[in-house]
Order: sequence, then C-alpha cells, then structure tokens
Amino acid sequence: MQRELGCCYYPEHWPASQWQDDARRMRAAGLSWVRIGEFAWGRIEPEPGCFQWQWLDQAVAVLHEHGLRVVLGTPTATPPKWVVDRHPDMLPVTAQGRVLGFGSRRHYCFSHVGFREESRRITEAMAQRYGRIVQAWQTDNEYGCHDSTLSYSDSALRGFRAWLQEQYSSIDALNTAWGNVFWSMEYQEFNDIGLPMPTVADTNPMHQLAFRRYTSDQVVAFNRSQVDAIRAHSDAPISHNFMGRITDFDHFAVGQDLDIATWDSYPLGFLEDRVGADAAQQRQFARQGDPDFQAFHHDLYRAVGRGRWWVMEQQPGPVNWAPYNPAPLPGMVRLWTWEAFAHGAEVVSYFRWRQCPFGAELMHSGLLRPDGEAAQGLLEAQTVAQELRDAPAVQPLAAQVGIVFDYDADAAWAIQPHGQGMSYFGLVFDTYKALRRMGLNVDILGPNQRDFNGYEIVLLPGMIHMPEALKTALDLSGALVVVGPRADARDAQLRIPTPLGPQLPGLDTTVSYVESLRPDLPIPLTTGHAVHYREHLDGSAEALLQDHCASAVVVREQQWVYCGAWLDAAALDAVLRPLCDERQLRVYDLPPGLRRRETLGEEFWFNYNDHAVHYASHTLPAAGVLRRDK
Ligand code: GAL
Repeated sequence: MQRELGCCYYPEHWPASQWQDDARRMRAAGLSWVRIGEFAWGRIEPEPGCFQWQWLDQAVAVLHEHGLRVVLGTPTATPPKWVVDRHPDMLPVTAQGRVLGFGSRRHYCFSHVGFREESRRITEAMAQRYGRIVQAWQTDNEYGCHDSTLSYSDSALRGFRAWLQEQYSSIDALNTAWGNVFWSMEYQEFNDIGLPMPTVADTNPMHQLAFRRYTSDQVVAFNRSQVDAIRAHSDAPISHNFMGRITDFDHFAVGQDLDIATWDSYPLGFLEDRVGADAAQQRQFARQGDPDFQAFHHDLYRAVGRGRWWVMEQQPGPVNWAPYNPAPLPGMVRLWTWEAFAHGAEVVSYFRWRQCPFGAELMHSGLLRPDGEAAQGLLEAQTVAQELRDAPAVQPLAAQVGIVFDYDADAAWAIQPHGQGMSYFGLVFDTYKALRRMGLNVDILGPNQRDFNGYEIVLLPGMIHMPEALKTALDLSGALVVVGPRADARDAQLRIPTPLGPQLPGLDTTVSYVESLRPDLPIPLTTGHAVHYREHLDGSAEALLQDHCASAVVVREQQWVYCGAWLDAAALDAVLRPLCDERQLRVYDLPPGLRRRETLGEEFWFNYNDHAVHYASHTLPAAGVLRRDK
C-alpha cells in the first residue's frame, strides 16, 4: 500500500491571498492530504443559521487545484459564543461542581441534548455542502482532550438516571448490583441517585464505574450522530483523531462507527507528561520521545480502526503544552514518520503547516515558521517525501503476538487502584515494552476479540473481568495465554466472585489475597522483582517464578500462564522469552532505544538514542532509521 504525507491547515488564520502559495508549497514539499475546518464554526456560521460558505468553498477549491486531497473536520470542538448563549447549560462541569466557561475549546458536555442537536445540525449542513467534494472527514477533534470526557452537569444527571433505569430496570436490581446495603446506601427510586461527585469517603466504586460506562456511551452516541449525518450525504471515509493515553471512554466502541481511526502523536510532549517515565529516562529521551509510546498507540489505533489508521497530527518541532518543550533531535521527525508507516499508517499528517503568530498555540511550532520560512520539520518531511517517491509501498505483516487492551478494565483500575503508582495502562505498557525489547511485532486486540487465529501468544495483563466467551475462545485458540496480575478477578459489576478468581479453564490456581507494595519494597523473585502489586496464589499449577520464600508468583498449566504480580523488566523477560522460544518466535535482546519492526518484505530499525548504535552488523546514527529488505 502507498503511504502518504499531509498537514493540518487553518485557512481562516491567513489572508486568502496566501492560500495559493501555501497550497503550491505543500504540494512541492510532497504532501498529499490537508485537514481543515475543525475549529472554524465561528467563521462558517457566525450567526445562527447564517452560513458563510464562500471562504471555505474557495479554500477547498485552492487545495484541490494543487492536487491536494481534503479531510474536512466537523467544527464541534469549538462552539461559538452564540451556541453557548443559546444553551447556557451545555458547558461542562467538573467533579467539584465548577462550570467551565467559554474562552478556549471543548466547552461542551456530551450529555447535553440541545448541543448534540446543534452538533448534528452543523455537521449535516457541512455534509450537504461538501459531501461529494472532500475526500475524507474527521468528526470533532480529540474527544477527551483537556479532561473533557466526564462532566457532572444537570444534563449528565438526567441522562445517567435514564441510562441506569435502562440498564437495571428496577431499583432493587441496581441496589443489589452496586452492593448498596454497604454503608446504608440503598435507593428507593432512580431519581434518588446523584452523580459520583466527591463524597466524605470513597464513593461507591460501582457507582463510579456505572458513571464512566454511561459517559463512554455518550461519547459513542455523540460521534454516531455526526457519522450518521455525514453518511447521509457522503461516501468519503470518516475518521476521528484520538489521543495518546486517554482512556476514559471506549475507543473501540467509537471506532466501530468510523472508517479510519487516526491519532495525534506528540512524542516529546507525551514523554514529559503522559508516559510515566522516571527522571533519568525523561532526560535520556528528552529530544526523541519514549521508544515505545508511539508504537503502542500505532498498534492500538490500528485495532480501533479495524486495520485502517493514520497519524492525523504529527509533532513537527517543539510543542507548547508540556512542562518542558524541547526541540526534537534532528532526524526525529523523519524517524517518527517512518515508524508510523512501518506500523501500517496510511497517512502521516503534520500539525501544523505554519506556526500561528496569535492565539493559545502561538508557541507551537509548525512545518513553517510564523514568517513562512521552512522550519526543521519541513526539511525532514521533504526527506520522507523523497524517500516515499523512491519506495512508496510498505506491506503489513501479521503479528504473532497480541495484547488485549480493555478500556473497561482501565476504568476499574482507576477507580480502585489499591496502591499508588498502579494503573492498568502502565501495566499493559510495561508488558508491551518487554515484547518490543525482544524485537517482536505486536498487535493490540480489543476485549471483544474472539478469533485468535494466527497468534502464538496472547497476553491479557490486568483484565479484571474476563467474560466466559473470551476465556473459552482463548482456551480453544491453541495460543499460549498469559494473564494476570488482577485478571479474571471480578464479575462484570466489579464484585469479587465466589469461587475466587481466576477461574481459567484447565489452570488450577486461585488468588487467596493481594497486596500493593511500597516502591522501596519490591519483592525479589527467582529472576527480577515484583513491583507495585503482588498476589498470593494457591493451587497445583507449576511455578515458573517464585519469591524468596519459594512461593509461586508466576504459574503455568498447559497453555495458560498466570502472573501473580506486576513484574519488572527482568522478571517479564524471564517469563516471556522461554514462551517465545517454545513457539519458535525469533527474538532479539535490543539495546535501550533501539527498536525493530518487520513488514512483509522489509525490516525497519529505529534508533531513538542521541548517539549511534551498533547492533547485529548494523550501525544506526543518532535518530537514525534503517529500512532494508529481509
Ligand atoms: C492536539 C490538538 C490540536 C493542537 C495540538 C497541539 O491535541 O488536536 O488542535 O492543539 O494538540 O499540540
């Protein structure tokens, strides 16, 4: 498949007289796609029902004239002032009850029926006008950005009660499911139930989980109403641009309604405020980004998009929003771009074409400086464009290892982590990193996956509730299945089941009790350590790793392996390497910062280090990419 480049462009930020030259230069730089429109509601509909299409018609026409294809964003992340004046209660409300007002973006609550209708209306108007003209769509912009998923508004309260009624049908059923007898919290009717806003002590976890699930459903419904409005007038593919490490709604469920999943990749910003790396790692990779964080999301969004995915926004230089905003090491923009292609991205599009001299993001770089001169990012994008001209196709290769990622498990962990530093994302990411250190291609799989054909190893770290159908499918799959810690430990309502979990076919092991660990008290194991969290296992399954008292920590019976602890890197290697050998997967022992990705006919090597690396007869310069035939 051909791989292409693009950029994000805001014609409304520049005089119309500049558009021709911009489009010409984009094309000359080797870009094929341009995303526009996603924040332009105020210019499209400055007053209710009074549409100003002329400027947008012209902008689209100019881009087309230069052979560029257009992704049109629906502008619902930035409702203009008049929309808010019309629906003053559409504003989001924080858990502390503070209303977040007009003056930036994402100032809406997903539950607000009136705003959802406005969003459908503007989407439909755009789809009617451009449905047969543009080449792709983007709904809204970054659901969840700026912590905007959960809102505790009156609309949310009304919607939540109605949703609960549908889910539980009787108040007794809800009281039982939530265990409301505990602390005298039984309700008499659905209208008694509030939102899980801060309480004196811990709010009932089932109440919190239900609210997370309700809110996730609102994101899905909001997105679906836009998708339906677009599809009525357009055959062009529809995408949404997701984010890095935003887990508070079910991205797989949103993805079901899209044709393409895209995501916004800001490796340096992420390293500073989202990866969870320690200070030494942040220093080591400050100008390169975490060597696995981007790849993880590439693999995640490939699954969310059911095979079709792009990077819609690629960091081109320093960003403006992280605690520190260094410039990428020369070569990194090229490396990030190639890494996305090696993981299957159809398009990598840079954010943004030109740095904007005004507004909230005036400190955010672009491919061009504010004066229109080329910035470092443009030079590297041009290099990739040239390389693509020489060899545009990258053919995917099916992975033999899969990790299941479950947003609902993430919610359960977030609500009751049981120890500082414990997060579901962190556990899954540690597991992913272990596989990447071995140079393996990894697929991320959704929790509804039931076909494991072609996988030699499937891992389900931390999947706190495992539906029976999933367990059966895994059991029949023939793959080695690595579960735990905290897997199959709760029922769908987060209750502890009896008999205790895990209840996995053919594996005689039970977790008798669990403990979280101080960071300065890891537990030494036969190899490596248990960190953060440890479970005590009963049963006859064979021990693969033990603690210093010879108690089993990782056990195995036939194809099932259960990890009864959060394992550090050494312990993970000790468990996973022999499994790879058993299934004859070719593994490496990659030095820090060196990563490998295999495609059908080629292998790619990526050096995330700020120094050259020599490995297996290759030499990669700092920030270097090696692409070669297998
Ligand atoms: C993204 C967002 C863009 C821009 C960018 C800056 O999260 O979608 O609109 O704000 O960050 O890095």
